Amino acid sequence: MSVYCYTYYIMTREEKVIIKTPNGKEFVQVLDLRWRVLDEPLSCSHQTLPSKSDEKPDVIHVVALKNNKVVSTVRLDPHPERGDNVFLVRKMATEPRLMRKGIGAKVLDYAESIARKRGAKNIIAHAFKGAVPFYEHMGYKLNGRIEMHDGEETPEMVKSTF
Ligand SMILES: CC(C)(COP(=O)(O)OP(=O)(O)OC[C@H]1O[C@@H](n2cnc3c(N)ncnc32)[C@H](O)[C@@H]1OP(=O)(O)O)[C@@H](O)C(=O)NCCC(=O)NCCS
Repeated sequence: MSVYCYTYYIMTREEKVIIKTPNGKEFVQVLDLRWRVLDEPLSCSHQTLPSKSDEKPDVIHVVALKNNKVVSTVRLDPHPERGDNVFLVRKMATEPRLMRKGIGAKVLDYAESIARKRGAKNIIAHAFKGAVPFYEHMGYKLNGRIEMHDGEETPEMVKSTF
């Protein structure tokens, strides 16, 4: 597990959290949060180790920490299949009891800012049912494409970062 440079962003709204790239210990909590919010509802098995793709050096991981616990997470992958300077949002999840407090928005915003510094011009999200309003709030627009994920139709949404 790569440890990225530490950059802190303190956000206050109803909750005070730290936004940062995770270290290895925090990444264990990322896997647990992903499992509870994204995988368990789809009856997937519990992954306790990062996947090989999680460890790719060009993948961007960002988390929100509250009281040293990971409460929101996202991953942004370069997506060369769709062109140079295109990134794909993956594994976006917020701790259920802390949803709708602006935390996911700060996590994705910070991940996008890292992607922009790496040349991202377009960011794609395949939105799970229920997540479309979140991505709309973040400036993503439906483009009419549909992707299948774990048997679920997910509308594609795109944000231009320039
Ligand atoms: C989607 C998700 C990551 C959003 O995280 P979050 O921390 O709750 O998001 P935020 O509080 O930052 O939301 C920012 C804005 O997005 C919109 N939004 C977020 N969730 C919404 C919902 N369920 N319904 C309508 N609008 C929503 C709102 O405009 C919100 O601002 P507001 O609360 O001031 O109205 C979270 O709901 C989640 O983990 N869902 C389950 C997993 C999932 O679907 N992940 C996406 C995979 S594609």
